[in-house]
Amino acid sequence: MILGIETSCDDTAMALVDSTGAILFDQVLSQDYLHRDFGGVVPELACRAHAEILPALLREALSTANIHFDSLDAMAVTRGPGLLGSLLIGIGFAKGLAFPRKLPIVGVDHIKAHLRATFKNAKEISGKSLGLVISGGHTHLYQVKAWPQIEQISQTVDDAAGEAFDKGAKLLGLPYPGGPHLERVAIANDRPLLPLTRGPIRTVHPLDFSFSGMKTAFFHLVQKVGVSESTLPNLAASLQGAITAHVIQRMEKALDEEKPDHLMVGGGVSANMHLRDALQDLCESRNVSIHLSPRSLARDNALTVALLGIDLLELGQYSRYPYVDLVPFTRSGQDARKGKNPSRKSSGP
Ligand code: KG4
Ligand code: ZN
Repeated sequence: MILGIETSCDDTAMALVDSTGAILFDQVLSQDYLHRDFGGVVPELACRAHAEILPALLREALSTANIHFDSLDAMAVTRGPGLLGSLLIGIGFAKGLAFPRKLPIVGVDHIKAHLRATFKNAKEISGKSLGLVISGGHTHLYQVKAWPQIEQISQTVDDAAGEAFDKGAKLLGLPYPGGPHLERVAIANDRPLLPLTRGPIRTVHPLDFSFSGMKTAFFHLVQKVGVSESTLPNLAASLQGAITAHVIQRMEKALDEEKPDHLMVGGGVSANMHLRDALQDLCESRNVSIHLSPRSLARDNALTVALLGIDLLELGQYSRYPYVDLVPFTRSGQDARKGKNPSRKSSGP
């Protein structure tokens, strides 16, 4: 029985999974109501809320699963990347629970947890696989080696796609986090999209992503057109269309260059139906099998942390009492791009 804990940003999540893979508890408590007035995550508030919520969530997990704490065999906790304070609360909580019983703790990579949502069994992704993680903090492309080994191919050079969705939504007066609200509004659009960029976006590395120019262009567009009931759907669809077009343009190139058998796509933004449909069409045209995260598991959650924890436990990759090696990491291997820095090729466990 493994307890998964996720506190990398502003969601507090816990899950319980047994050795047969049965899910005994799986809950994500959103802190959106706390951060909404600020239009973004306030790290200090997020930490405090994690510290308050975790003990209550544990009690609820144990009572829902109808088990005693002593039945737990291991913990899995997100180690990073994420907000340092938030990660420390989750890791400290896991250590505090594990310490008296000397339980193993698996410190899991947030990025890999997003990719873990895209398949049930690692056998599904045998062959050459690419993994796209597209969220509020990341728009990164990986080569998935023997799971759970990944190697970064490219990344956003500025903002993540989710950041562009959230900031764009804020300009439209939509609540935080804006991605799902913007998608909902965009669905009502029946007019041609407004242009945000002139041709493909340039980056030094041709597979890197960039969203900051698009964000600025959207700001000017909103100033020019003005936000009203009649312009809102068109504006929302235009930003969503521009983000999707950029991702698809880069992924088209990536699929043509890398020629994978599989594409795995996870992270909060992968819940977006417009993007999902476009990625599905692209993969179909290239004869690549696509593994999209179920929409319910696209956002940060603890179930995929627990499932990845089981994978890593089986490989013996866990932290042992007194857990001195278990510390947070806040950035994914920035210099870990293929061929650039061979000494740091793969991200953490
Ligand atoms: O993976 P996630 O929960 O947290 C991070 O690791 O960042 O992703 C959150 C991001 C937010 O920017 C949110 O607006 C975006 O995912 N998001 C969406 C949708 N659902 C969540 N963006 C576009 N369309 C959606 N349906
Ligand atoms: Zn995430």
